[in-house]
Amino acid sequence: MNKILQLVKRYGIIKFLMMAVDEVIHIFNKFLRELFYHWTKDDFGIKEALFWSKDIDQYMRYSKILGELKKIQSVGNQKIRILDVGAGGEGIAKFLKYSGDINKYEVYLADTNADFLTNVKLGKPVVIKGKTLSFKDNEFDIVVSVDTLEHIPKNGRNDFLKELKRVGKTVLLHFIMHDPANQYFGRDIDMEFNKWYLKNFKKENSWVVEHLNIEPPTCSEIKSILPDAVIAGTQNINVWYKYITTSASPIIGFFTGYAFLGKWKKQFSIPPYHGCFVRWQDNSN
Ligand SMILES: C[S@@+](CC[C@H](N)C(=O)[O-])C[C@H]1O[C@@H](n2cnc3c(N)ncnc32)[C@H](O)[C@@H]1O
Repeated sequence: MNKILQLVKRYGIIKFLMMAVDEVIHIFNKFLRELFYHWTKDDFGIKEALFWSKDIDQYMRYSKILGELKKIQSVGNQKIRILDVGAGGEGIAKFLKYSGDINKYEVYLADTNADFLTNVKLGKPVVIKGKTLSFKDNEFDIVVSVDTLEHIPKNGRNDFLKELKRVGKTVLLHFIMHDPANQYFGRDIDMEFNKWYLKNFKKENSWVVEHLNIEPPTCSEIKSILPDAVIAGTQNINVWYKYITTSASPIIGFFTGYAFLGKWKKQFSIPPYHGCFVRWQDNSN
């Protein structure tokens, strides 16, 4: 009761009620997603607007990775072994379920925060302790890490990337990059979003604050550890800002996907970028 009164005091009764209704619709929307959503290709369309408007950012990053996974075929009947580092929950396993491919993969979900792995039902949870991963060299066909690199301080990123490269034959990354010379402006637009969030929710967004407190990754840093990697920009900063602020807005957020389709999609893949996709393959054998 005390918490409710505090929220009413902070937001006013109208906004509090809108946020409460928004939460209930969101739970129902996620329930329907689990029952009916099927991922077919990396392209945000009308069914994605229906099921993902409120979580459009999560869809964009994992859909990109899933699109790449679709290009990698298994040999014979063997399952593809995949590790998601910084999964934060069911991560890539959930998206493989949406695509109907989960049974073709043996999925491991790793995170330093054990709390995020407690309710994991798809895949095998692994709590990471220390700098090294508890896996053998090349133990995985694919290692993915989504929106995690930008949460690791600069002095720990070399070791982090070297470990992904050691345990995986292919590494797929998505993260927020800031490298103006190469058209990445992740930090600038994160700052704008944080200001918007503070104004609208009277507190900072904890994930974004974590990015902002860390010197963000650059292309040369990636190239120094993964020299032959393909690096590609994702999420035009203006489009990202529009959909992240719209999707975070109570009630209106459920219309984000339709606005994306009608107005923003055509600009989505052009620079300047917020996000970065990286594909690295071990070509030594
Ligand atoms: C922003 S969340 C991303 C979660 C999920 N991959 C997604 O995109 O929705 C970042 C995650 O990285 C985890 N993390 C932070 N540092 C890590 C590290 N050194 N190794 C593995 N996971 C880490 C955090 O606990 C958190 O779950």
